[in-house]
Amino acid sequence: MVIGLLLALLDPAPVLPLERLRVQDPYELRPIEFEGYSLPAFLDQKFGLEWRKLGDTHQLRMKCRDGYRLSVPLSRILRHRALVAIRRTDQVSFTLLKKDVTPAKTVELAPAYLVWENEKDLAIRSEGDYGWPFQWSEVTLEKLGEGDPLLVPPKGASPAAFRGYSQFKVHCLKCHSIAGVGGKVGPELHSPQNVTTYWRPGKLEAWILNPASFRTPNGMPPIAPAHPYRKTLAHEMVEYLNSIAEKK
Ligand code: HEC
Repeated sequence: MVIGLLLALLDPAPVLPLERLRVQDPYELRPIEFEGYSLPAFLDQKFGLEWRKLGDTHQLRMKCRDGYRLSVPLSRILRHRALVAIRRTDQVSFTLLKKDVTPAKTVELAPAYLVWENEKDLAIRSEGDYGWPFQWSEVTLEKLGEGDPLLVPPKGASPAAFRGYSQFKVHCLKCHSIAGVGGKVGPELHSPQNVTTYWRPGKLEAWILNPASFRTPNGMPPIAPAHPYRKTLAHEMVEYLNSIAEKK
């Protein structure tokens, strides 16, 4: 098994049956059926069966054509159903209308789009678009947190900081980067100065819960108002940002 080596996603072409999966697409915001390869079977072919034993200690890192990178714990792949989608069954072009941005825009999905069963699987549904890369082109296996040392809380950080870190990856990293790793919709939050060093204590939590109470219009959505633990989440995310503040 190759750990840490970045491999082209669809080269060589997988020798696997095509499967179909209908999902509640988190960008186009409606049910869409995709065709592609079952993710675990796909990984078996790419890396051999041993990846299944790594479970909680490793993650799948994905790289996209537009430069976006993200990682998903292998345990999530073992517990939930995902498809490496290579086409839509309802239209010829392999594109998606991104309605989660204003104005909505059409994006190319090729070479692949990772989709998750989220019609019955409400845990996955509650995580929105976490783990749905499009233009997905390269893949590697690595130890949890390995590729991004700056992103991980330092040894000895509080349990709340570690919980905040895993939630930050789910809710925030798609829009914000930490030292260059992550999305570009919102501002970088760590480099050259960590956001906790220039915001007043207490204000960041309030911002995360309700950005529009600070500035309007505001491109940042609040944590879902219906989320049962939203205050805890906001608190733990700030703990997380604080914990890495001194990391260079
Ligand atoms: C859909 C994209 C998006 C998501 C998701 C998102 N943000 Fe933002 N965020 C933004 C944008 C855009 C801004 C700039 C808004 C403004 O200044 O009006 C911003 C601003 C911020 C700021 C202020 C930065 C500064 O120095 O002024 C912080 C802190 C922040 N976000 C933290 C978070 C955290 C923590 C999460 C996860 C709960 C999160 N954001 C999720 C888009 C996003």
